[in-house]
Amino acid sequence: MKKIILVDSSPRRAGNSSAIVDMLANDLAGEDVLAFHMRDHDCRPCLACAACQDRETQTCVQKDDVAALLPAIEACDAIAIASPIYNQQINSQAKLLIERLYPFFHIGRKNMSNTAKFGKKAALVCSCWGSPRDVTERYCAWTVEGLSQMGAEHFRSLVFDQIPEAGAVLGRADYLARLHELAAWLKADA
Ligand SMILES: Cc1cc2nc3c(=O)[nH]c(=O)nc-3n(C[C@H](O)[C@H](O)[C@H](O)COP(=O)(O)O)c2cc1C
Repeated sequence: MKKIILVDSSPRRAGNSSAIVDMLANDLAGEDVLAFHMRDHDCRPCLACAACQDRETQTCVQKDDVAALLPAIEACDAIAIASPIYNQQINSQAKLLIERLYPFFHIGRKNMSNTAKFGKKAALVCSCWGSPRDVTERYCAWTVEGLSQMGAEHFRSLVFDQIPEAGAVLGRADYLARLHELAAWLKADA
């Protein structure tokens, strides 16, 4: 059984990112899945206090739900983040989560990570309206590789465009097929 974290960074309760996480969770039934809808949690930005640096394990001085998630991020086999595109980039909430991976940063270690568990998988699924698809795909492929900081070494990214309305992803059979493929990849052995 694989430990898989699914993050929904959208503020829209019935939005596309929410539907994407629900669908992945459905496909991943039987795995150890943690679905984290950021809008339902206390998620604060990094304080840049650096108290987490030069440590063997991932600790954060903050007492919020992102700090509480760090042990699960260390122990997981895979993580998938579903984010809307806002102003050509992942939204602030998704960026906040990635910045809170600073406790994993260790400059002298492999991949600059203090993780005890390399080989994780990381996926980023972005929903948007009309941003140029080629640029957005390159941006998302580059962004997801930043998750090497938490021990990810295998990456996938998907861009679903032309779905501005909440939940519109559910009407796109082509996108749903790609999500089924992503779920199969997330639970497969690396
Ligand atoms: C503040 C804001 C900025 C946005 N910026 C972009 C953008 O730059 N490019 C784009 O294609 N869509 C943009 N959109 C549209 C969203 O990406 C789109 O509605 C997406 O499906 C939302 O995902 P969600 O349903 O998971 O919240 C923006 C939406 C908002 C609210």
